[in-house]
Amino acid sequence: MKAFDNIKVLDFTHVQSGPTCTQLLAWLGADVIKIERPGIGDATRNQLVDMEGADSLYFTMLNHNKRSLTLNTKHDGGKKILERLVKKCDVLVENFAPGALDRMGFPWQRIQQLNRGMILASIKGFGDGPYEDCKVYENVAQCVGGAASTTGFPDGPPLISSAQVGDSGTGLHLAFGIAAALFQRERSGRGQRVFAPMQDSVLNLCRVKLRDQQRLVASGVLEEYSQHGDGIAFGDTTPRAGNDSGGGQPGRILKCKGWQHDPNAYTYFITQAAVWGNICELIGKPEWKQHPHYATPAQRLPRLNLIFGAIEQWTKRKTKFEVMAACMPLKIPVGPILSMKELAADPALRKSGTVVEVDHPQRGKYISVGCPIKLSDSAVQVERAPLLGEHSEEILRQMLGYSEAEVAAIQTAGVV
Ligand SMILES: CC(C)(COP(=O)(O)OP(=O)(O)OC[C@H]1O[C@@H](n2cnc3c(N)ncnc32)[C@H](O)[C@@H]1OP(=O)(O)O)[C@@H](O)C(=O)NCCC(=O)NCCS
Repeated sequence: MKAFDNIKVLDFTHVQSGPTCTQLLAWLGADVIKIERPGIGDATRNQLVDMEGADSLYFTMLNHNKRSLTLNTKHDGGKKILERLVKKCDVLVENFAPGALDRMGFPWQRIQQLNRGMILASIKGFGDGPYEDCKVYENVAQCVGGAASTTGFPDGPPLISSAQVGDSGTGLHLAFGIAAALFQRERSGRGQRVFAPMQDSVLNLCRVKLRDQQRLVASGVLEEYSQHGDGIAFGDTTPRAGNDSGGGQPGRILKCKGWQHDPNAYTYFITQAAVWGNICELIGKPEWKQHPHYATPAQRLPRLNLIFGAIEQWTKRKTKFEVMAACMPLKIPVGPILSMKELAADPALRKSGTVVEVDHPQRGKYISVGCPIKLSDSAVQVERAPLLGEHSEEILRQMLGYSEAEVAAIQTAGVV
C-alpha cells in the first residue's frame, strides 16, 4: 500500500515547477497521467540534450513514475477525451501560463460541473495583482521573491542560488496543498482550488530575511552579519550576507586543506553557543572559554571575523572530511562543501534511495535524485520517466473504456 494509492492525477505540468510536484505524488503512489502535446511533448524532453535521440536528463529526472498520454486539447476530439479524464480523476495539476486552461475551455467552473470532487492545483509566477498575467521562470521567481536581493556578498551584485527554490520549491508547496485538499475532501466530499504562486513560495523560503528586515528597522544593525564586524554601516533593507549563517548561531564557510587547487575544499562551521568550550579546545584557544571578549555569544558578535579567522587557521590544516571527523564527536555542527561528483557517489545517499540509478530504454543507465521524503509505510520505487505517448492507448482503452476501433479513429484524427 502507498500513501496516494487510488488517487488519479491529471498532470498538465511542464518544465520544472509542476513536474516536481506531480513526481512526488507519483512516488507516493498516485497514478499520474502526464498529458502532452502530440509529437511535441514537454519542452524539456528536447532541452539540454546530451544524447541524440533520447529524452534529456532534464525531462527524465523530473518525470519518474508517471504515464504519458499525448492529447491535443485544442482539437474537439481531444476536448471530449479531456472531459472524460476530468470526470475520472481526483486532481488536475497545471502550470500553464496564466489563462491557458480557460482558453482550452476548462475554467474552474466547468471543471467543478464535471467533477465536484476535483482538486485543481495551479502554479503561476505571481498571485492576484499587477503581475498576475506574467510568465515566470525559476530565476525570475528568485528575484521577485526576495532570494536574489539577499544572496551574494554585500559588495557584489544580487545572486541566483542553484537550489531551485522558485521551481522545485513551489512544486513542494503545491504538493502539500494538494495533500491537504485531498484530506479535507475526505470529510467535505468537495474538491477545491489549490494555488501556489512562485513569488509567494520563494518569499516563504526567505522568511528569515523578512525577519531581518524588521530587526534592521528596529535597531539599525544586524549584529550576526559580518558587515557589522567589518564596521560597514547598514542601509534600510536586509543586505546580502555572503556565507554568514542566517540563524542565531554564527557560521561561515572556511578554507580547508587543498583550497588553493580544489574549489570545494571548504567546510561550513557553526559556532554553536552550546559547544563553544569544545571549539576553543579544538582550535587551541582554551583561554577564550572564560575571556571577557569571547565567553558569551553577545561578547563574540562584534569579533566574529577574528574568531572565524582563528578557526580557519585550524581548518586550513585539515581536509574537509578531517574537520567533520574531529567535530562530530564534540557535537560541533560543521559540514563539508560536497561537490555533485561526491554526492553522486555517496554510499549513504545511495543506500537511502535519495541517489538512484535508473535504467531507460533510450539512454541506458543514469543517476537521479530519488524521493527525499521517507515514509515508513509508503516505500518509493523510482521508475523511469515515460516515453512520449507511451501509455496513450492503455489509458484510452483501460481507463476511459474506448474500443479498439475508437482508439484507431482517435489516432487517425491526430488527437493523440
Ligand atoms: C513556463 C512558462 C513560462 C512556459 O510558457 P509557454 O512555453 O509559452 O507555455 P504555455 O504554458 O503558455 O502554453 C503554451 C500553449 O500550449 C498549449 N498547450 C499545452 N498543452 C497542450 C496540449 N496538450 N494540447 C494542445 N495545446 C496545449 C496551451 O494551451 C497554451 O496555448 P495558449 O497560449 O493558446 O493558451 C509558462 O507556462 C508559465 O509562466 N507557467 C507558470 C509559471 C511556471 O510554472 N513557471 C515555471 C516553469 S519551470
